Amino acid sequence: MKFLLVNAGQLVTMTGPSGPRTGAEMGKVGMFRGGSVLVGDGKILAAGLSDFVATHPDADKARILDIGGRVVMPGFVDSHAHPVFAEPRLKDFELRTRGKGYEDIAKAGGGILSSVDKVRGAGDPQLLDNLLRAAARFIECGTTTLEAKSGYGLDVENELKLLRTIQRASKVTALELVPTFLGAHALPAEFKGDPHGYLRRVCEEMLPAVAKEGLAKFADVFCDRGYFSEPQAEQVLRAALDHGLKPKIHAEQLSRSGGAAVAAKVGAVSADHLDHAEPDDLAKLKAANVIAALVPAANYFLGLGRYPSGRKLIDAGLAVALATDFNPGTSPCWNMQFVLSLACTQLGMTPEEALCAATINGAHALGLGATHGSIEPGKQADLIVLDMEDYREACYWFGGNQVSMVMKRGGIVHSDREYRA
Ligand code: NIG
Ligand code: FE
Repeated sequence: MKFLLVNAGQLVTMTGPSGPRTGAEMGKVGMFRGGSVLVGDGKILAAGLSDFVATHPDADKARILDIGGRVVMPGFVDSHAHPVFAEPRLKDFELRTRGKGYEDIAKAGGGILSSVDKVRGAGDPQLLDNLLRAAARFIECGTTTLEAKSGYGLDVENELKLLRTIQRASKVTALELVPTFLGAHALPAEFKGDPHGYLRRVCEEMLPAVAKEGLAKFADVFCDRGYFSEPQAEQVLRAALDHGLKPKIHAEQLSRSGGAAVAAKVGAVSADHLDHAEPDDLAKLKAANVIAALVPAANYFLGLGRYPSGRKLIDAGLAVALATDFNPGTSPCWNMQFVLSLACTQLGMTPEEALCAATINGAHALGLGATHGSIEPGKQADLIVLDMEDYREACYWFGGNQVSMVMKRGGIVHSDREYRA
């Protein structure tokens, strides 16, 4: 099926250099007023000014979709999420409304380990159903590619159960899921006081099993106070590299953990959170070309009242990506539009930088920059129509959903109206 989208009031292509965008490049969205996009066989065939796209030999074979002056842009690429879990953590939430902090709640029997208990007790159908329901919400809100971490199993059987759920869901949902193994998310109760024993399990049993079944593209570690130390994180990520998994890291979230330095040392694709990163950390990340993935919805939900400075990171020359961090403990948010709002109101980013971070730089943070994240001939046809006249409105209105249509791999997977010529 071929589609010709015509009459886009603004076509935001995000065309630009082939690598992750930094500095002034993050401010350029490659916008055409009065644009068209031709898609076929799941790919973008042509995009740009309508008269130009109309000259493509396949243009007259396509079904025309009149976008009615709305905004067309690439689908969101959400590069950090923990979307497979059994239940929301409502008890933690309530404790927090009564003034308890994230680490206090974890010590009191809530936190990551309470999600681990629930996952271990959950059957495959429940986990699959939860993931598919979340996937539908992501799609409606314009996300076309989502990272999916494990990390609530913390033993061989349950980590594999989570990753196999992601694999199964990928065959059903239109949302593209990029799997990440996060066995080093927390120390499970049965290894209390024995982090070395647990990490041996992660490196010698879980990683080989995950690699053997081809269940993950990335490996991640929660490097922080009370979780895993700098040398422990390095050990896991080096073992991951040995098994062909690319490193990512939760770094400097609760404290200055040394995670950014580890990211630079092992050549991580991204270092995520970075709330407590210092100038020295930023210099290391920059020198090693590590993408900084910011997840401000977690700061919002934890009521921290402070945010990592997107502005400082961009000014330090880093490629910044934005993500939801969707998870049951710190960020039950599937809407990248809310993250755009936070980026512009709390992180000091411009709308153009925020949109770049939520699309093409997110794609790079998942190793997909060559095929995803922008509307360019040859790339996968993942795009969204926003019910607005000006792309800056995507960052301006907040708390709702302005996505009118979603196209994934060239097919319409969500639409709030019939788009006809
Ligand atoms: O990204 N920081 C570690 N992991 C998650 C939280 C997971 C949870 O609380 O369940 C995060 O914020
Ligand atoms: Fe996270």
